[in-house]
Parts: sequence; structure tokens; C-alpha cells
Amino acid sequence: MNRRTFRIILDVTMLVLVPLLYNSRVLSLAFHEVAGLVALLLLGTHLVLNWKWITGIITSWFQKRLPRKTRFTYVIDLAFLGSFFFAGASGLSISRVLLPGIRDPLW
Ligand code: HEM
Repeated sequence: MNRRTFRIILDVTMLVLVPLLYNSRVLSLAFHEVAGLVALLLLGTHLVLNWKWITGIITSWFQKRLPRKTRFTYVIDLAFLGSFFFAGASGLSISRVLLPGIRDPLW
């Protein structure tokens, strides 16, 4: 499988998986927790595969030739990234099925 096909399969899998996470009982809580972890791993892979683009934008941030649209979508992407990691981390800290031992009453 070439790199492009792998990226498309990865992104489509995330596109299908992520909306399912927004109801924790869509299939079962066990599914939600496993799928949440898988989604975090897929996101990590997505970031590694696109690392060149991610760092390329940062290094050209102060150059005028970087289009406004790219800057705007980059900021939106960062907000998504932060909120997704926060959802995953808070999910882990209230886990009932996979990691009930680390359940934190604060969360
Ligand atoms: C990373 C992506 C994740 C997203 C976007 C996400 C999203 C959500 C949302 C929106 C809820 C509330 C939904 C509802 O009440 O129906 C929820 C609840 C919950 N999530 Fe996640 N979650 C994620 C990952 C995880 C992970 C990795 C775990 C645990 C290993 C987890 C465990 C839980 C638990 C225990 C609840 C509370 C269920 C309940 O008591 O009703 N989540 N999650």
C-alpha cells in the first residue's frame, strides 16, 4: 500500500470513528472507551505522517506569502487538537471499563 492510500484510509477511519464518540453509549461504553483510545492513536499517526507540513507552517508563519486561509485553518486545527486531547485525557480519567483504577472523582 502506498503512502497516499494509507493516509486516505487513516483519515476516512477517523472521520467515521470520531462522530461515534460524541455519544458515549452509541454501541456500549466499552466500545466508546476502546474507540476513544484508538482514535487518539490514529490522530498521533496522522500528526506524524503530516509532521513536515505542520512544522513547515510554523517556520513560514512570519512570511507574508503564507495565505490567510492557511493561517486561519491552522489555528482551527490547533484548537481541534487541544480539545480532542483534552476529551481523551478527561475520558481516561473517568474510565469505568478500561482503567477503572485511575478514576478521579474531580473529573
Ligand atoms: C478521544 C476522544 C473522545 C471523545 C471525543 C469523547 C467524547 C465523550 C463525550 C462527548 C462524552 C459524553 C457523552 C454522553 O454523555 O453521551 C463522553 C463520556 C465519557 N467518556 Fe469519552 N470521549 C473520548 C475518549 C474517551 C476515552 C479514551 C475514554 C476512556 C478510556 C472515555 C470514557 C468516557 C466515559 C467513562 C464517559 C462517561 C460515560 C457516562 O457516564 O455516561 N472517553 N466522552
